[in-house]
Amino acid sequence: MKNYKIAILDGDGIGPEIMIEAIKVLKVIEQRNDIKFELQHASFGGCAYFESGHPFPEETKKVCDEADAILKGPIGLNHEESEKIPVDLRPERGALLPLRKRLNTYANFRPVSLPKGLAHFSPLKAEIIGDGIDMIMIRELVGGLYFGKKEVGVNDDGLRYVKETLEYDESQIERIVRVGFDQSMRRKKILHNIHKSNVLKSSVLWNEVLGEVAEDYPDVEVKHMLVDAAATALCLNPTQFDVMVMENMFGDILSDQGGGILGSLGLMPSACIGDASAYYEPSHGSAPDIAGQNIANPYSMIGSVAMMLELSFDMLDESKNVWNAMQSVFADGYSTPDLSKPGADVLMIKTDEFGDRVVEALKTK
Ligand code: IPM
Ligand code: MG
Repeated sequence: MKNYKIAILDGDGIGPEIMIEAIKVLKVIEQRNDIKFELQHASFGGCAYFESGHPFPEETKKVCDEADAILKGPIGLNHEESEKIPVDLRPERGALLPLRKRLNTYANFRPVSLPKGLAHFSPLKAEIIGDGIDMIMIRELVGGLYFGKKEVGVNDDGLRYVKETLEYDESQIERIVRVGFDQSMRRKKILHNIHKSNVLKSSVLWNEVLGEVAEDYPDVEVKHMLVDAAATALCLNPTQFDVMVMENMFGDILSDQGGGILGSLGLMPSACIGDASAYYEPSHGSAPDIAGQNIANPYSMIGSVAMMLELSFDMLDESKNVWNAMQSVFADGYSTPDLSKPGADVLMIKTDEFGDRVVEALKTK
């Protein structure tokens, strides 16, 4: 029997409640495959800070280091709670970025796909969506502005100033663009390279390296697009995209726009992959305003499980089954309050009922 250790970082806000639903799904997979998932919960984020004084405690680091994969809920606090914590110990700077750096998960996969039966959630017109949106954004996750040198001070004129640096070396660029090409080979063999080489030197080097790597992938058609133009194109003609590759900050912004064109960031799971480690998380925040009400849709958390099954455990069929199970619940007309406008023609159910229905659907697959 295979035995996999999974670190479970429940996170803040809606994290714990959507995590419960993701674990229900893992149990079904475990029961019908010759497999044991050893789940180890560890404290991470704002909750960890208030419990122990650090958002990424040593004990949690140990659990993560020993795990075969990590399933992480969203983290973050509302403004008031955040203000109680020193800036560098807030969940994003004190836990999430250090987790990414520690595991060196440089490749962030963010699928932007509109499941069947969900077109009505999108703010885009039906003629723009056509047969549906189905792309994957690949975001560099451990470099660029997020991790460059920072300086804060007062200059010679007595003015407060700040300096943040956007740094990449060619090896960092090469490994992420290769991920983009590899994905393209598995999909439609079209790769959109998102950059800003009309202004940024970092994009000039990025494009140079991408051009060199492209020689190893003669079957992939590369399309270059400036990041600002890509933002417009995502609204006007999203179906042209299949795989997009970009640096960290561009990916942060465009992937939120990806959630926007679907109608909700709640429909955005993600995978963060390195050469030796992987963790899986929703792309969205912890939604403290709706936490504890049992109304958040667990799609992004369960979708993160589906990505884990595929990318960490090579269980491709079960991964597809999980996606299909979730989509069938939507197709049957069910939804949760966070995803639905008042008066929408849906059968409104709670977070846990949504999870139960996914589990029932999964059992029939
Ligand atoms: C994301 C989030 C994070 C990021 C925040 C929470 C630090 O927005 O994963 O997209 O900026 O990377
Ligand atoms: Mg973001």
